Amino acid sequence: MPDSLRVLVVHGPNLNLLGTREPEIYGETTLPEIDDRLASEAKEWGAEVETFQSNHEGALVDRIQDASGWADGILINAGALTHTSVALRDVLAATDLPVVEVHLSNVHARESFRHHSYLSAVATGVIVGFGPDSYVLGLRGLLDSLTRG
Ligand code: DQA
Repeated sequence: MPDSLRVLVVHGPNLNLLGTREPEIYGETTLPEIDDRLASEAKEWGAEVETFQSNHEGALVDRIQDASGWADGILINAGALTHTSVALRDVLAATDLPVVEVHLSNVHARESFRHHSYLSAVATGVIVGFGPDSYVLGLRGLLDSLTRG
């Protein structure tokens, strides 16, 4: 057990465009701003986050495989891959780490193809619809459950 809890934060395709991408849906907060908020929140818990964004499914799978060596939990917004990727679901299950799935938008209030997530069945919890706060709330939930054991 490391001295402090370590969380891998995974951002999927197109989340690097936050700030300019469909701001009426996703808001104007950028990904670096979200990552800064997560780093501050983690610090308050005496924890650490490592963040990773990719537009490539295989790169995300590689990073998640690697996490089983060092992370205590995973916070993930897989973007559109949420609704399509069995590979991401399988690698999250394979790590055997607690996973919290987050989405900025309320995917259930949007197009029907966004209503199903391949990831939710292997997640400890899911938070949707609170914009950038979804990430912070998800991280709190994950760290709280890890702290309580
Ligand atoms: C999203 C919702 C997904 O349906 C979409 O493809 C995204 C962002 C969200 O955070 O609201 O890229 O994951």
